[in-house]
Amino acid sequence: MHDQLTPETGLKGRVAVVTGAVSGMGRVIALELARRGAKLAAVDVDAARLERLKEEIGANEATFLALPTDISHADDCRRAVERTVAAFGGLAILVNCAGVSMDPAIPAGKQHPVKFWETDPAGWERIQAINSAGPYYMTRFAVEHMLANGWGRIINVTTSFDTMLARGMSAYGASKAALEAGSAVWAKELDGSGVSVNVVVPGGMTNTPFLPEEFRSPSILQPEIMAPVVAWLASPESNGVNGRRFIAKFWDASINSTEAAAKCSAPIAWEGEAVIAGRSK
Ligand SMILES: NC(=O)c1ccc[n+]([C@@H]2O[C@H](COP(=O)([O-])OP(=O)(O)OC[C@H]3O[C@@H](n4cnc5c(N)ncnc54)[C@H](O)[C@@H]3O)[C@@H](O)[C@H]2O)c1
Repeated sequence: MHDQLTPETGLKGRVAVVTGAVSGMGRVIALELARRGAKLAAVDVDAARLERLKEEIGANEATFLALPTDISHADDCRRAVERTVAAFGGLAILVNCAGVSMDPAIPAGKQHPVKFWETDPAGWERIQAINSAGPYYMTRFAVEHMLANGWGRIINVTTSFDTMLARGMSAYGASKAALEAGSAVWAKELDGSGVSVNVVVPGGMTNTPFLPEEFRSPSILQPEIMAPVVAWLASPESNGVNGRRFIAKFWDASINSTEAAAKCSAPIAWEGEAVIAGRSK
């Protein structure tokens, strides 16, 4: 494997916001962007672990900002963006990675999988608020700064299509399908602005605390799989790439990045999939 990012097209000095930064894939992405020289604004509900992340990265106030934030609240997201811009003078990259599983919608005493009529309505709403509204709020406020600069990156983590449609995943699947569709629209509305919107999924169950203990295993995908494709998308190497959905497990680090990107991506969402012999979608 060779490094596909040159120092000229790397991330040095660029300001990146990563949500869900203390655990699983968000943590891997945060560490990778920081390693490549980005100034990191780390967003998570877990304030104590944000401090630990700062120590782990070995960062100081000039390069790291801990932003304890519940992304399900629009005002908290606005504040996180404002604090990032005040601390670092701008905001170029946003990775929307924070998310929750079906757990909040599973009533006490029941176990996954639960049927949609058994889900707890308040938990169902909470899942939409974190997985779907949260990325919208973060992007809504961050994109103004990117547009003012004529350059920016929005990278949204959704999930595999079969997970969106699987039994037992009614609330989670709906939340990620909403983010997937939203991402497709955002990419179109930003086209030609210098700000891109792309989606990245790992490509299957990934070994993070998100999974119930019985599914955790070294033999499934590991969160590190996200690092090369997200680093490339965050960099100027991906200029002109907009509205694509990347499956991280198919990223081939042994070939040049333009080819690797083409091989592991398709248009966001289900564009082109729903045409029935000549009828409109
Ligand atoms: N693990 C998988 O198998 C898998 C597969 C496909 C997609 N995903 C998606 O990948 C993303 C990352 O998941 P992961 O597996 O790394 O999970 P994880 O549980 O390890 O990390 C999720 C992070 O989000 C944070 N978070 C939760 N609610 C929040 C809120 N309201 N505000 C701010 N932060 C909040 C958590 O504190 C945690 O740090 C999620 O969006 C998930 O839906 C996961």
